Amino acid sequence: SSIHSFLQALPKVEHHMHIEGALSPSLIFKLAAKNGIELPKDDSAFSSVESLVERYKHFTSLDDFLHYYYIGMSVLLSAGDFEALAWDYFQHAAADGVVHAELFYDPQAHTSRGVSYSTIVSGISAARKRAESEFGITTELICCFLRHLPVSDSLMAFDSSEIQASFKDGSVIGIGLDSTELDKPPHLWKELYAKAATQELNLTAHAGEEGPAEYITDALASLHISRIDHGVHLIDDPELMASVAKEGIMLTVCPISNVVLKCFPSIKDVPIRKFLDAGVRFSINSDDPAYFGGYILDNYCAVDDAFQLSAEEWKSVCRAAIEGSWCSEERKAELL
Ligand code: HPA
Ligand code: ZN
Repeated sequence: SSIHSFLQALPKVEHHMHIEGALSPSLIFKLAAKNGIELPKDDSAFSSVESLVERYKHFTSLDDFLHYYYIGMSVLLSAGDFEALAWDYFQHAAADGVVHAELFYDPQAHTSRGVSYSTIVSGISAARKRAESEFGITTELICCFLRHLPVSDSLMAFDSSEIQASFKDGSVIGIGLDSTELDKPPHLWKELYAKAATQELNLTAHAGEEGPAEYITDALASLHISRIDHGVHLIDDPELMASVAKEGIMLTVCPISNVVLKCFPSIKDVPIRKFLDAGVRFSINSDDPAYFGGYILDNYCAVDDAFQLSAEEWKSVCRAAIEGSWCSEERKAELL
């Protein structure tokens, strides 16, 4: 349809995209066979690609999804595996009209399995280079720390010489905080974020996805983040919403994810129109597209279906996304 081609052609920027969340069921099975990794035998979801796809339609919560997300990524061993994963994503991104992507990755979930940090980053980097030369898509990396693990684990990982080197050589431009949210208030990671701030890294954190608006307040006050990942529970605190709007802090909203993980009953319940009316800046993102059944353009289409944004509104959403990016000022100027 014409609206689909209009949305496809918009210069899209993605800020909330876990590269491990681009791991499709077919690639899980292919890499498991190649690497000799046994998928759980006691879970019938792993009987076939089809049964896994079917299981993904019935997530009950963030943690229910995360269980499958961590099993899935256990098949990634070599740099070539990470390259194949990232390349799969970039092909979707190119087809969807993405011009710039800031990608999350979860190093602790790989180093804990004996995969070295340099394997992860070198594999992703190879695909990033190819995406830039073949598709003109520019990319940045944001190193995420896992909230279901002890805080001391995050601090140790952050201080490791390999992660430090990837900050210093500019291959990684910021940090994030993801995984289980409930009962893991952001202030527990205050020391990690204080250290990152002294290294002039960009700072973001998942907050207010399953967790309450108080976690957004806490993340802003304790971690001094300049973006909020998800942040949709901002809607429950009008005063905080006004201050986020005034400060120009951007939410990286993932509408299909919110519905699939049961944060909201339908796309219509994701507060997109309320954020527009309140002047809250946000970008629209895919989160874990291979698990949630939709890449970025599917998210744009779902939002348009539910809210019928005008062409001017769509252009301003895309402009806000470019402005809220962490790419160079030169690249920003090119995109605007
Ligand atoms: N929330 C928290 N952790 C995650 C997510 C998410 O949506 N996706 C991948 N890790
Ligand atoms: Zn996420």
